[in-house]
Amino acid sequence: MPGSDVAGVVAAVGSDVTGLAPGDEVYGELAGYRGGLAEYVATPPDLLARKPAELSFTDAAAIPQAGCIAWRAVHETGKVRPGDKGLVNGAGGAGGAFVVGLAKHAGAEVTAVDRAEKADHLRRVGADRTVACETEDWATHPDHRERYDLIVDLVARRSPYRVHRALRPGGAYYVVGGLTRTLLATLAAGPAIRWLTGKRVRVLVVPQSRDDLVAVTRLVTTSAVVPAIDHVHPFDDVPRAFRRLASGANRGKIVVEVAAGHADRPGGPGPTRPPRA
Ligand SMILES: NC(=O)c1ccc[n+]([C@@H]2O[C@H](COP(=O)([O-])OP(=O)(O)OC[C@H]3O[C@@H](n4cnc5c(N)ncnc54)[C@H](OP(=O)(O)O)[C@@H]3O)[C@@H](O)[C@H]2O)c1
Repeated sequence: MPGSDVAGVVAAVGSDVTGLAPGDEVYGELAGYRGGLAEYVATPPDLLARKPAELSFTDAAAIPQAGCIAWRAVHETGKVRPGDKGLVNGAGGAGGAFVVGLAKHAGAEVTAVDRAEKADHLRRVGADRTVACETEDWATHPDHRERYDLIVDLVARRSPYRVHRALRPGGAYYVVGGLTRTLLATLAAGPAIRWLTGKRVRVLVVPQSRDDLVAVTRLVTTSAVVPAIDHVHPFDDVPRAFRRLASGANRGKIVVEVAAGHADRPGGPGPTRPPRA
């Protein structure tokens, strides 16, 4: 069953679980990135974090995977500094919007690449410049040559030997998602590119981490970044939610609400909700 991210209320805990109890409000990513589209989920407790009271269940459900990718890309691994120039490829999806928001908050100037029709959305999530992927190839266009300190690619399909041209000396390109053959080519070519150019061209492995989740959530609760949420759908409406996702029309996360008005009751036990479609 799909759905990697959940937010809800603990209904029951195993006899050896400490630190969580029925009624606790929690959110997080499910092990194996699956199973969230359900009234109840069973999950090891170590990936769940306590939901801050000021965070809605809807926002909490939209953070885990996208937020943790962005946290790794911008802070843990990418180490963006004020004044850096960043490019996010595939910035119109949930992960990309979070990367744009975090990079902006870290003080970077951000170029966001996606389909032309998403340009307004990209500016709304914080991009300084937008590039339409249908008409401009940032990897070869002279305007982008040796421009970026950090490139985060959520839809990688270019040869690793092309993408590094857009990096400044010492810059880093991280693949987060994309074609399997491109991920494998990036893994294989990265060390040689580093040796030849001094630039880092790598696959970014994003572990499922409660610490990362808590860290990125702090930026949401202090309003430094806002999760991009496209629509909140009731559980009965999941087929329509998937059609929207498959069409590419969504601008950010689609959240599915399993039991409106039930799990929101503070402290009251209820089903886990709402997973990401
Ligand atoms: N590395 C790790 O450890 C790790 C961990 C978890 C997840 N992931 C991966 O991270 C990615 C998450 O990304 P996401 O959820 O943000 O994906 P997403 O929602 O599918 O967003 C991708 C965006 O890129 C756009 N796009 C499509 N083709 C493009 C092109 N040629 N150039 C520029 N933009 C293009 C898409 O537009 P349309 O929708 O209109 O096509 C969409 O707006 C997934 O691939 C997932 O597998 C990686």
